[in-house]
Amino acid sequence: MNAPFHARAGLRDPFTAFVCDDATADMLRPVAVEHGWSPEKVNKGGLRNAVQSLSVSASPNILFVDLSESGDPLNDINALAEVCEPGTIVIASGQVNDVRLYRDLVASGIHDYLLKPFTVDQLRDTFAHAQSILSGPRGEAQVDKPHVMTAVVGVRGGVGASTLATSLAWLLGEKAHRTTALLDLDVHFGTGALALDLEPGRGLTDAIENPSRIDGLFIERAMVRANERLSVLSAEAPINTPLITDGTAFFQLQEEMRNAFESTVIDLPRQMLIQYPHMVHDAHVAVVVAELTLAATRDTIRLLAWLKSNAPQTKVIVVANGVPSGGALEISKKDFEQSIERSVDIVFPEDGKLAAQAAKLGKPMAEVATGKMAGPFAQLSNMVLSHASEEGSAAEVKGAPAAKPSLVGNLKSMLAKKAA
Ligand SMILES: Nc1ncnc2c1ncn2[C@@H]1O[C@H](COP(=O)(O)OP(=O)(O)O)[C@@H](O)[C@H]1O
Ligand SMILES: [Mg+2]
Repeated sequence: MNAPFHARAGLRDPFTAFVCDDATADMLRPVAVEHGWSPEKVNKGGLRNAVQSLSVSASPNILFVDLSESGDPLNDINALAEVCEPGTIVIASGQVNDVRLYRDLVASGIHDYLLKPFTVDQLRDTFAHAQSILSGPRGEAQVDKPHVMTAVVGVRGGVGASTLATSLAWLLGEKAHRTTALLDLDVHFGTGALALDLEPGRGLTDAIENPSRIDGLFIERAMVRANERLSVLSAEAPINTPLITDGTAFFQLQEEMRNAFESTVIDLPRQMLIQYPHMVHDAHVAVVVAELTLAATRDTIRLLAWLKSNAPQTKVIVVANGVPSGGALEISKKDFEQSIERSVDIVFPEDGKLAAQAAKLGKPMAEVATGKMAGPFAQLSNMVLSHASEEGSAAEVKGAPAAKPSLVGNLKSMLAKKAA
């Protein structure tokens, strides 16, 4: 159950319903509670209210909508499609018993149509199926999760960029149920595999040497699996061999990962950013990891300016990591923020114990974190996902084609055909 994960601002609600009558509402509320959803998400008002409400707020993961008061359900639901974001699973119900309507609704992207009166068990079945789709692997998914690409850059060495990149990748897999690739571009000294207690293998080295070999199959073979939803591409290239590549390999890898996974996290050492600036162009989000020191302040200013001019469409999250409690700060957060002319989005306290424990267990820090340290991690992955889904982010500009057509797209083309 990932309800708490979705509770934060900017992210989708797990569930919302709009129903026309008390009987339906009374049946839905306890079933919602069984799923860990708030019974208050069962609203009165049917399709019309759904459209009104969704036009001003984010779409939920699962939307139940009552079509009973709709004179022309198929046409009316077009209005819903206009305001409903891709990825939402729509379950409709109504009184019209017409197999053609059912078929048309399903063809238009509606997940299920429950004919009134329906039973509690029918309701449970359809919710269970919807949830299995939401958490299922990409191949079986009926919903599109547009690819989310995040680059994590440390403003200086040792600020914890790799720690946060690994944790973010793990969170996207484990908590957001996205198949995720971690691409560790610290080719000689990468810790992406090590941090997950894995051998890096030769995948990344092979890719750099033979970029023309990179395709879907290559990705499948070369990536090392950390768990069901997280794979890593990392290297420990011999330190007597300089990195010789024009960056084609990295570009290709990015392309293939976009096709094969629902999210990519790139651990991008800052010198690689200078060498291969295109690595950030297609990233929806750049996580800039800093510490509260004078040197990091200077480099944060420079890095933010660089991002503004080189990747203006990329949303930036500024993280202050390893912030000591007490007065041991080189520069205060306030002064840091004043200097970089923006606020810090997320603060990770210094926690040497936790860092050591994570390293010893070969687990990402996010997996081991509890209490005060768990909050910023959830914040990080939530922010990444909500930034990536915002209008005008690189997602819209350069997103991969959706695995399946969206509800909106489907409906539009179907209605166009009907009108013709
Ligand atoms: N919040 C933190 N508190 C304490 N130690 C941390 C924290 N974040 C990272 N570390 C530790 O700092 C060291 C450097 O982290 P790393 O992620 O490799 O930095 P970078 O990739 O920026 O060079 C690691 O040993 C890591 O465990
Ligand atoms: Mg690193």
